[in-house]
Amino acid sequence: MKEFHVAIDGPAGSGKSTISSQIAQKLGWIHVDTGAMYRAVTLYALENQVNLNNEDSYQFLDNVKIDYQDDKILLNGKDVSREIRSEEVTNNVSLVSSFPYVREKMVFIQQKAAKGKNIIMDGRDIGTVVLPNAKLKIFLTANVEERAKRRYNEQLIKGVTVDFEELVNDIAIRDKKDSTRKESPLKKAVDACVIDTTYLTIEQVVDKIINLIEKKENEQ
Ligand code: DC
Repeated sequence: MKEFHVAIDGPAGSGKSTISSQIAQKLGWIHVDTGAMYRAVTLYALENQVNLNNEDSYQFLDNVKIDYQDDKILLNGKDVSREIRSEEVTNNVSLVSSFPYVREKMVFIQQKAAKGKNIIMDGRDIGTVVLPNAKLKIFLTANVEERAKRRYNEQLIKGVTVDFEELVNDIAIRDKKDSTRKESPLKKAVDACVIDTTYLTIEQVVDKIINLIEKKENEQ
């Protein structure tokens, strides 16, 4: 097949990246986690002490290379997959990703990455802005408590104990920021298929989406 684009959008903790990565592995397709790209921009900005509040500060993007390869995010060739998950990056990424200049740059890279490929791309604006003609659009949801529970367990595995209520609060704040910002807010595309993952396992969601992909392929 020449080109099949799957857009997966949804709020923080809805399982987008894990699910997209597993689907891509099963199908032998490319996966791009666009959240990781915005996190890489945030990491660079923090490490280089630029003024995060000023859109002009992000001109550095003209000289910074951000690549996504096999579930690894590379910043000027260096693998920063671990560093982009830090609390400091998480707390600032909503601000950084709200600037039109930053979004324009990222969307350009994302659209270029998808051209002519079989790709699963996950984020907040994939079905609405980045790949509006994607053959399949999925909007993943899960209630806030379930998403906080998933984050809590992820942290626990890493040996980090966090306050559960604080986590619920942080996720709710990030949801609000991501869905109310002016530029490309988190929004379900009109033609997206909604999957509520609250009571589903990762495997169940992966299978559901693969079935939808196969159905679309057979329609062609
Ligand atoms: O999926 P994530 O939590 O790693 O995403 C980090 C942040 O990046 C999230 O708060 C919103 C932003 N983001 C975005 O604005 N557009 C995207 N396509 C992906 C992520």
